[in-house]
Amino acid sequence: MDLHLSTQPPLDWTGDCFAVGVTESDLPLTGTLAELNEKLSGLVQELIDEVEFKAAADTHATIRVGNSGPFRKLILLGLGKQEDLSLETMRRAGAAAARLSKKEKCKVLGISLPVWNDNAALTTQAIAEGALLALHEDNRFKSEAEDKQFTLDRIEIIGFPNEAPALARAQQVADGVILARELVAAPPNVVTPAKLAETAEDIAQQHSIEVEILDREACMALGMGAFLGVSQASDLPPKFIHLTYRPSETPRRKLAIIGKGLTFDSGGLNIKAGAGSMIEMMKFDMGGAAATLGAAKAIAQIKPDVEVHFISAAAENMISGNALHPGDIVTASNGKTIEVNNTDAEGRLTLADALVFAEKLGVDAMIDLATLTGASIIALGDSIAGLWSPDDTLAKEIEAASGVAGEKLWRMPLEEKYFEGMKSLVADMKNTGPRFGGAITAALFLKQFVKETAWAHLDMAGPVWNDRENAYNSPGATGYGVRTLVQWVLS
Ligand code: BES
Ligand code: MN
Ligand code: ZN
Repeated sequence: MDLHLSTQPPLDWTGDCFAVGVTESDLPLTGTLAELNEKLSGLVQELIDEVEFKAAADTHATIRVGNSGPFRKLILLGLGKQEDLSLETMRRAGAAAARLSKKEKCKVLGISLPVWNDNAALTTQAIAEGALLALHEDNRFKSEAEDKQFTLDRIEIIGFPNEAPALARAQQVADGVILARELVAAPPNVVTPAKLAETAEDIAQQHSIEVEILDREACMALGMGAFLGVSQASDLPPKFIHLTYRPSETPRRKLAIIGKGLTFDSGGLNIKAGAGSMIEMMKFDMGGAAATLGAAKAIAQIKPDVEVHFISAAAENMISGNALHPGDIVTASNGKTIEVNNTDAEGRLTLADALVFAEKLGVDAMIDLATLTGASIIALGDSIAGLWSPDDTLAKEIEAASGVAGEKLWRMPLEEKYFEGMKSLVADMKNTGPRFGGAITAALFLKQFVKETAWAHLDMAGPVWNDRENAYNSPGATGYGVRTLVQWVLS
């Protein structure tokens, strides 16, 4: 499918399917829509009356215009109230247009939507992102493609003829999101630590950025006892992944993005057991690494004036005679000792060494993304990530980026007092505290491995996966994080 910017005014557009946005204040029909209605001999009004279309957000109406008209099908995209329009409205409308026109077996789709906040670039990007993400389908593991449906050949965004860079940006971001989705959706016998490392190498090669993969011995030499402890029961060797994007000019900023990369989390000897443990879903425990690699793919194409390090300590949390015992003490690469009182709190152990590594790179700020705790899902549900940061400036940057990107997150407290629950009698700290406030103590644990660099932590255990169909996500892996990360790096 090709994406284009149409230079036609909306009323002159011809093609297969015309999708036009309608706000509540466009009704009764005014302006361009009234003209369109006239041009189509009252068909728009007829459709509105027939289905009692009120232009509520996320509602749609479709009618056949016929082969004698300027286009075969007309889709009305409800946008809600004019004053509530947002980038997310545009993203969802772009997605709906793409999905519906595919269902209507259209080859060429024209999308006409109003500009949001006088920002043609962000509006164009949002519409295109919505369409691209909605059209992504993943049949890699089906012996026969389920969806032999029709494919759209061409989408033309109408009304923004000068926004070619925004269109390219949408494509680059969507590339990153789709990579992340496919990594998360793939089963744990396919996406292994080695496969994540290979994916990083592919990105490096395709987009000419630097890559370094540290094997077990190299990690040992760096003293990464926490990361290696987690990996030690697996037959699959751990891989410490480090991609670097360097701009050709002097970087305006140096940043690090760190993703939890557990390609499977059995829980270890504290095995995930019983209904609700979700052990069969634990392929998604590398969602942070997937977002990191997805962001790397997008950033390497966008080429901003910012140096960015993409890091993941990738491993499997398994069981064998060589597994961590609950009660083992491991030493992280900053010298701190950790009593592993629960082998299922493994993500924070891998992140500890990854954070120490990232800080040594001398970056100005760093963010980690992790499917870290079930407690964050209890707190925020499956659509909102938790954000923790001791740095208000960084937290505000990330909140702003997530708003533009349309990925929900909510800032949570780093309540220092709760770290008392992590005190160990024998080591510097335990890896888990009391059950209550489990997402907060996890964040406080990570904080022990950051000295002075501005740092933020995103617990994305909820939004990594989506059980229901929504505007631009089929059920399954969401690719959460990529859009916010890209927006943050560019901000
Ligand atoms: N990967 C899990 C977190 C998780 C659980 C994500 C369910 C999505 C759904 C993490 O490694 C984990 O097991 N965390 C434990 C921590 C506990 C032992 C303190 C948890 O949340 O139960
Ligand atoms: Mn776990
Ligand atoms: Zn985990």
